[in-house]
Amino acid sequence: MCGIFGIIGKQDNAAQTVLSGLKKLEYRGYDSWGIAVKQADKLVVERHVGKIGQAKTTLSASTIALGHTRWATHGGVTIGNAHPHLDCQQKLCLVHNGIVENFRPIKEKLSKSHKFNSETDTEVALHLIEDKAKTQSVFKAVQSSFNQVHGMNAFIVLNADSKELIAVKNGSPLTIGLGKDANYISSDVWALLDHTNKVIFLEDNQMAQISQNSVKLFNAKTGKSIKPKITTLDWQAEQSKLGKFHHYMEKEISDQPQILDNLSRIDPAIIAKAAKAIKATTKSYILGCGTASYAAMFGEYIFSLAGFDTEAIIGSEFSKNKQLLSPDLVFLMLSQSGETIDVVEAVNLAKSKNMKIIAITNVLGSTLYRKSDTKILLRAGQEVAVASTKAFTGKLAILIQIAYWLTKDFKAGQKLIDQAAKATKTIITGSTRKQIKDLAKQIKDQDNMFVVGRLSSYPIALETALKIKEVSYIHAEGYAGGELKHGPIALIDQNTPCLVIAPNDQTYTDSISSAHEMKARGGFIIGISPKNDPVFDIHLKVPDLKEATSIPNTVIAQLLAYDLAIARGLNPDKPRNLAKSVTVK
Ligand code: AGP
Repeated sequence: MCGIFGIIGKQDNAAQTVLSGLKKLEYRGYDSWGIAVKQADKLVVERHVGKIGQAKTTLSASTIALGHTRWATHGGVTIGNAHPHLDCQQKLCLVHNGIVENFRPIKEKLSKSHKFNSETDTEVALHLIEDKAKTQSVFKAVQSSFNQVHGMNAFIVLNADSKELIAVKNGSPLTIGLGKDANYISSDVWALLDHTNKVIFLEDNQMAQISQNSVKLFNAKTGKSIKPKITTLDWQAEQSKLGKFHHYMEKEISDQPQILDNLSRIDPAIIAKAAKAIKATTKSYILGCGTASYAAMFGEYIFSLAGFDTEAIIGSEFSKNKQLLSPDLVFLMLSQSGETIDVVEAVNLAKSKNMKIIAITNVLGSTLYRKSDTKILLRAGQEVAVASTKAFTGKLAILIQIAYWLTKDFKAGQKLIDQAAKATKTIITGSTRKQIKDLAKQIKDQDNMFVVGRLSSYPIALETALKIKEVSYIHAEGYAGGELKHGPIALIDQNTPCLVIAPNDQTYTDSISSAHEMKARGGFIIGISPKNDPVFDIHLKVPDLKEATSIPNTVIAQLLAYDLAIARGLNPDKPRNLAKSVTVK
């Protein structure tokens, strides 16, 4: 969940380069940050609690540096627990993304001869390396320590007595960037794009020895050398710039009309390949976490309604299906980052059962992308804001086209996505935009909210509630409309905002009944629907686009969440306690 970055080059502005790399990685965790440089045979470190913001580094000239931006797992948000950590001799320094699951027994053994300055699991790994380096090279010490620690981890180590960085990973992502006068290493590719588009994606249990002019790869288990696989990316750092927008969430919501338009013209062969796999099997699983799990649920609904046995699974609950997996079943894995740990583990388990994996992801070269058999890229450009927006509607657009391919009407599916792109533009630029802003001002002081939807609108209700929770901290809950009467309606009182997602389909009448039941208890009814109804206190109109109505419905929800965050004086891009890519358990 943390972001780690390193550079070894010719120029002596390594600390500044690491700082700008950390700024690009800050969406992975913003509890504290720190940088270390090598000067002659000394290591100098600076560490700070909180976000980087406009901070400048205080470290002086150096050609080698590494840095870290933290999402706290072990040990509170303090300077003492901020990374990078130094060993007892102040000769070794390490940054880490992951969790050393067996840190406690290792610490007990080492605490007789090592002084610990933090509560972190990370510092334990560093002292373990220091301990082993007493009898072997630092490279070997990193290798054997890595093989002794448990869990999904990525480490970068800097040794004051050498002119190289040592990196090693399992599970947590690490990518090397090959520059002209420098080499770089980062938790993700986006932070490398300012410097190069030539990268090496490290695979699990691979180690790298990185100097200014060379990169050597090794198998961390056997020590055998590996020929690096260089990938050239066609991305521009420019795409990730904020431009005229105030926040990345606002920019990424506004990116959607173009992305949906592109996806409505996606190569039919890509959709056909996934659809044929689903058609050829007796049952498909669709898996994701958080927002991606709601896209998975949406897929389950529209594929099931089309007559194809499909089960959506929440990534962290996957092992419940362990006994049911077999090579003839198909797996769709949904993940914007392609690095979410519960998705990566599910991929490993499904692969161990020889299952075919269809990935829908936004990051070329991510672990999910690399490990899957069929790869569907969202091509939505970098999603920086922690709250996922354009990647979610992109997934809906793909799933709807697969469903229409399965029901032999692919062209109609493409047309619906094209119309959804236009409808989204109208919502973002038209009168509805002001309606949503005014609504946010009207309900911003509420602490609780309800969102209801039925059938394929139920996952949209869940996603709406998640967006509102994530960025405005209002406790919104999404419900299947029919479930209200079985308990939750007890929470509704005077003026409780109730969003009713009522598309013009088989659920419309029942959804209007739910609206009446909530209104009878004093609820303030906000209808998101192609059709107005007297029960609505506020009507947010969307076009009737069959299953694709879920896309403009979602965009309205995203804008409402964004406006509520702004109305409550919050930064929608970096919500408290969250991070963009969840790479720890
Ligand atoms: C969504 O706004 C959240 N950031 C979170 O739920 C996210 O969707 C989840 O962590 C999954 O991320 P992924 O799509 O990168 O796997």
